[in-house]
Amino acid sequence: MCGIVGYIGKDEAQPILLSGLGKLEYRGYDSAGIAVCNGELITVKKSEGRLAVLENQLQNAPLHGSIGIGHTRWATHGRPSNENSHPHTDQSGKFAVVHNGIIENYLDIKEELSAKGVRFTSETDTEVIAHLLADLWDGSLVSTVQKAIKKMRGAYALGVVSEYEPDKLVAVRLASPLIIGVGENGNFIGSDIPALIEYTRDIYILEDGEMAVLTADGVTLMDAMTGKMISRELFHVDWDLVQAEKEGYDHFMLKEIHEQPRAFRNTMTGRIDEKGKKVIFEGLSLTSEQLMQIDKIFIVACGTAYHAGLVGKYVIEDLARIPVEVDVASEFRYRRPIVTEKTLVIVVSQSGETADTLAALREARRLGAKVLAITNVVGSSIARDADDVIATMAGPEIAVASTKAYTSQLVAFYLLGIYLAQVRETIEEGERISLIEALEKLPEQAEEVLSYSENIRTFADSIKDHKSLFYIGRGIDYAVALEGSLKLKEISYIHSEAYPAGELKHGTLALIEENIPVIALATQDELYEKMISNIKEVTARGAHVLGIALAGDTELHKSTDEVISVPSTVSLFTPALSVIPLQLLSYYTSLALGNDVDKPRNLAKSVTVE
Ligand code: F6R
Repeated sequence: MCGIVGYIGKDEAQPILLSGLGKLEYRGYDSAGIAVCNGELITVKKSEGRLAVLENQLQNAPLHGSIGIGHTRWATHGRPSNENSHPHTDQSGKFAVVHNGIIENYLDIKEELSAKGVRFTSETDTEVIAHLLADLWDGSLVSTVQKAIKKMRGAYALGVVSEYEPDKLVAVRLASPLIIGVGENGNFIGSDIPALIEYTRDIYILEDGEMAVLTADGVTLMDAMTGKMISRELFHVDWDLVQAEKEGYDHFMLKEIHEQPRAFRNTMTGRIDEKGKKVIFEGLSLTSEQLMQIDKIFIVACGTAYHAGLVGKYVIEDLARIPVEVDVASEFRYRRPIVTEKTLVIVVSQSGETADTLAALREARRLGAKVLAITNVVGSSIARDADDVIATMAGPEIAVASTKAYTSQLVAFYLLGIYLAQVRETIEEGERISLIEALEKLPEQAEEVLSYSENIRTFADSIKDHKSLFYIGRGIDYAVALEGSLKLKEISYIHSEAYPAGELKHGTLALIEENIPVIALATQDELYEKMISNIKEVTARGAHVLGIALAGDTELHKSTDEVISVPSTVSLFTPALSVIPLQLLSYYTSLALGNDVDKPRNLAKSVTVE
């Protein structure tokens, strides 16, 4: 749950490390640190708090040298503090280490080293690595790192520098993301691409169990255990830097909300034939025969991606008539799911690195299922471990609260639902063509929804001082209510709950009191009348209701205080539009409360621990 960077080359390392860490802060931001080697000595500067704290300290006393490693932390072992911040060093200060992941057997190693007289200064699992390297030092940095990782169990992306060999930076990856950048003036390591693209677009994606040895002039890849050389093509990154920056918006979240029309278009590009009659998934290894045989689908994901999966269930069941169960990834593998070779497991993950989802994926494969990943990061662990991948083309998502990745996941499910229906012939060609037409209109319709964000801002002002509120909906609207509620919780810190509107009267209605805000989604024709009755149940008890309706609705305003309407589309596609006002509502509420919108407390963007 941390971000790491490293540089070795001809330039000063400090500015490169700090700039890389800035791009990685979304991975964790409770402390930051860098270690720079001047060719002889390693100096470490680290500090609890945001990167800005470290930057301030370094302004007065910069570290000079052209090799270094850096880290931004999200605490797992040990509270946020100066001592627990990375880089960690051994007692002699000869080795400095940055680490993302968890060393599961660190207590055993710590005990062993303590018995030899090693004194530890932090509560972290990472510190043991630095001491282990010192203990195992055999005259070669590469072979010492190899010896150390043979003793370590767990998940890690590591960057190591040593005063013994100040012309090398060694990086190792096991189950935590790590990439290597190859530049003209030096070489780099980083937890992900935005950290490096200011300096290079040519990267190697390190696989599990691989080591990279970087010098100022080159990079060598090898098997971390055996040292066997690996040759690999460089991957050229097409993203431009502005894609990973705010583009003039006050926050990444707002920028990403506004990027949704583009993300929809990009996710559809190349997946609809020229005549608009068919969905195509080039490169899918699942054959039509295999897709015909599927008798059960599990959708497995966490958080917002799980909410996208709930919509996916409605879509696939409705269009392709295959039974779908949706599971929270951290529950899936502990409940002995009934998986056969006719089961398709769809894992959904923006980052492609979520540990719970990755573990569920591996369990599903072990049980014999085919796994299809819907992810935003091609080259991520989840993308690489799945049998097939549908990439959502949302571009890098920096704000911790997911927006464009969620709606792009919905678009991926719409395409997939139509595709499965096409292969299994569960809908007529005419219906399929209408669905595709409706899908192709979504980007434009999303632009329309974005144009009336001011009304939502006003409602945000009216809810910001409340302690609690409710989101209600029926059918697919309930899935959107869950996402709206999560979005509000995570960035405004206001308690909220999402309820299937028909379920309120079975208990929760007791919580509805004078003036409590209720956000009611009423976009589903078939459930509309029932939904109006449920809204009346809450208004009768004094609730202040914001309704989300389809354009042309003339009824809802009679039973609500305010209505935001979204353009009319196929019922199954409304979530991609109706969630946008809810995202904006959360954004403006958080803003009105003065919260850190992009970096909410206690949360990190990429959750790489189980
Ligand atoms: C909430 C949010 C999280 C993620 C969840 C899974 O806004 O972003 O709930 O959806 O942590 O992350 P990914 O999709 O990267 O697997």
